[in-house]
Amino acid sequence: MLLHDRIPNHVGIIMDGNGRWAEMRGLPRIEGHRRGTERLREIIEAAMEIGVKTLTLYAFSLENWQRPQNEVRTLMRLLEAYLRKEFSEFMEKGIVFRTIGETWRLPENIQSLIRETEEKTSGNNGMTLVAALSYGGRNEIIRAVKKAILSGIKPDDITEDSFNSLLDTSGLPSLDLIIRTSGERRISNFLLWQGAYSEFYFTDTLWPDFTKEEFLIALRDYQMRERRFGALPAGSRT
Ligand code: FPP
Repeated sequence: MLLHDRIPNHVGIIMDGNGRWAEMRGLPRIEGHRRGTERLREIIEAAMEIGVKTLTLYAFSLENWQRPQNEVRTLMRLLEAYLRKEFSEFMEKGIVFRTIGETWRLPENIQSLIRETEEKTSGNNGMTLVAALSYGGRNEIIRAVKKAILSGIKPDDITEDSFNSLLDTSGLPSLDLIIRTSGERRISNFLLWQGAYSEFYFTDTLWPDFTKEEFLIALRDYQMRERRFGALPAGSRT
């Protein structure tokens, strides 16, 4: 059972382990990505049902550009097919689709598909689904610094709030929980600034095997945590 007053507003997921899932079965890595993409609908639906307001998925990192060309090409094809197939679901479920990252590096046809999906879903009022595409946390921070300098802002006017508004995640709720699958216990350049006070949940399950049940376990685990944001626990003596 989940506590309805402690639902995380914003959950980020590092969907890791597609390659290993495939290799363990003697399949090409790309088959793992295909199965991983199939996992998305169940997890997105679960997040919506539970009342998560924003779900951010680490779909393609800046580092992922260094993978073999045919793996990158197939990931792009999967992304295109995913967006085309899920568009009507987004509209039906009221999902707002948004991206973060250097999307201008993506193939032109995917950029226009993204723009179209973002525009057409922007008036929806359900959960916001954020795809981190060609994304790196340090790169996002550096781009925000450049924007600040170009805007001519005075150093004294740079605050956490004003800096937040220069990040790709501007306007999104603060990140409560980061889930990483596949047994790795690293942040891997995902939402570095936004994750300053996030809780982490790690599981050995590979992304293509990550089910709604396991997602609920992660949320229950999160609900047991006492989030203090650096302060003392409530009721502590001074
Ligand atoms: C990590 O597995 C996963 C990725 C690099 C891609 C994640 C993408 C999806 C789940 C598909 C959804 C994305 C789109 C674009 C619709 P890995 O290959 O690093 O696995 P490994 O660590 O076992 O090699």
